[in-house]
Amino acid sequence: AIKESEDVACKEVASDIARLIIEKQKKGKTAVLGLATGVTPIKIYQELVKKHREEGLSFHNVVTFNLDEYYPQSKTSELSYYYFMHHHLFDHIDIPAENINIPDGEIESDKIADYCKFYEEKIDAYGGIDIQILGIGRTGHIGFNEPGSRQESLTRLVKLHPVTIMDATREFIREEQVPRRAITMGIKTISKARKVYLLAWGEKKAPIIKEAIEGGISEEIPATFLQNHPNVSVMIDSDAALEL
Ligand code: GLP
Repeated sequence: AIKESEDVACKEVASDIARLIIEKQKKGKTAVLGLATGVTPIKIYQELVKKHREEGLSFHNVVTFNLDEYYPQSKTSELSYYYFMHHHLFDHIDIPAENINIPDGEIESDKIADYCKFYEEKIDAYGGIDIQILGIGRTGHIGFNEPGSRQESLTRLVKLHPVTIMDATREFIREEQVPRRAITMGIKTISKARKVYLLAWGEKKAPIIKEAIEGGISEEIPATFLQNHPNVSVMIDSDAALEL
């Protein structure tokens, strides 16, 4: 759907999340959210914090799984996705700390494979993700599934694409400072979510949005795999829709 603005789109997604949380609360169940970082979803998190403060929306029954984290990356770094999520959302709501899952950028390298398997199993143990939020990178990545990622891919250690490293330089200041790798949920992990929101704002995302939506399904543009998903909402503003 093409929305009048990022604000309108983010309010709509936040309302859908709030509805899910309340519905699950009534049944004594858990709401499982798949969350993304980057500037794209920030307003959704602001809306959720507002609903917590002004409407008393509780997150006591919410479990979250973040898509990805740089590797290696320390949790205390302000550039970690761990920091980002706490700063924008978790520090301002009543979610139990043990319900928060973010790929661990501090894990020892010989433990990564087991850790990734554990991350997958934990998602499954909670019954899978109810709502998954996604941004999109200029390479067509979702999470950090760069070109070449397989449709069957699961949580794993990946190498970042040079374009992604260049885009991340805006936060890391110097290109050499950008971690070369990341731990990311796979395409299959993302595809198992029952509802997916793919979000993009601004002209810079217009070319990749065109490829993601209108292009043929291929590993070259991993976001095209979402075309196979039965329940995806693409939420974009008019600038990101310029090339459709
Ligand atoms: C990063 C993240 C992605 C995100 C993308 C777009 O690489 N790993 O999950 O979707 O960048 O970022 P932004 O929302 O800042 O444009």
